[in-house]
Amino acid sequence: MIKGVIFDLDGVLCSTDEYHYLAWKSLADELDIPFDREANNRLRGVSREKSLEIILERSTKTYGEKEKKEFADRKNRRYRELLEGLTPRDVAEGVLGVLFCLKKAGIRLAVGSSSKNTPLILERLDLAQHFDAVADGNDITHSKPDPEVFLKAAERLELRPSECLVVEDAESGAAAGKAGGFRTATVGEAARLGLGDFPLRRLSDLVSIV
Ligand code: BG6
Ligand code: MG
Repeated sequence: MIKGVIFDLDGVLCSTDEYHYLAWKSLADELDIPFDREANNRLRGVSREKSLEIILERSTKTYGEKEKKEFADRKNRRYRELLEGLTPRDVAEGVLGVLFCLKKAGIRLAVGSSSKNTPLILERLDLAQHFDAVADGNDITHSKPDPEVFLKAAERLELRPSECLVVEDAESGAAAGKAGGFRTATVGEAARLGLGDFPLRRLSDLVSIV
């Protein structure tokens, strides 16, 4: 029986995955590295540092740690500039209805995101009030596909992984859910790939499986 639902943030609760793409794309263009939306799919759910490593795989140059730190900081500044425009109207379609239904059914709700910008995004979207727990990139040492962030979220909900459902849009996130012993519902890219236990056509379909 499912007692808790742990939602990924970027690409599930909001479309900030597009902002991640735009910020990385601008950096990649400056460094003359090929990067497109398909390449961007590999970065979903993956930490900032690991994302940069993946982008640099296609660079003809080798960079030192100091330069890499500057690239990651530059990307994050651009990303946060884009987040400035975020308002509660940017909560993804169906999210508020789903949260309301689950809460009414007594299900505990959490966010489990690799992003260190999670607190800022939840604040701008006015979403924090809906969750019983949040675990994010500031709490973990290993990002998805490692299950650490979901295990931390479950712990904060005081539930076992087998009692929770994870909701993800990323291949790495679906893998993290599985590795942690969670059942996983997928939307977006991960659902299109048929990943997870329950690939969904739309987020509102979640209500029928919980
Ligand atoms: C995840 C995104 O939620 O957070 C990744 O799917 C991103 O694309 C990761 O790299 C880390 O985000 P941030 O905000 O800490 O740079
Ligand atoms: Mg995501």
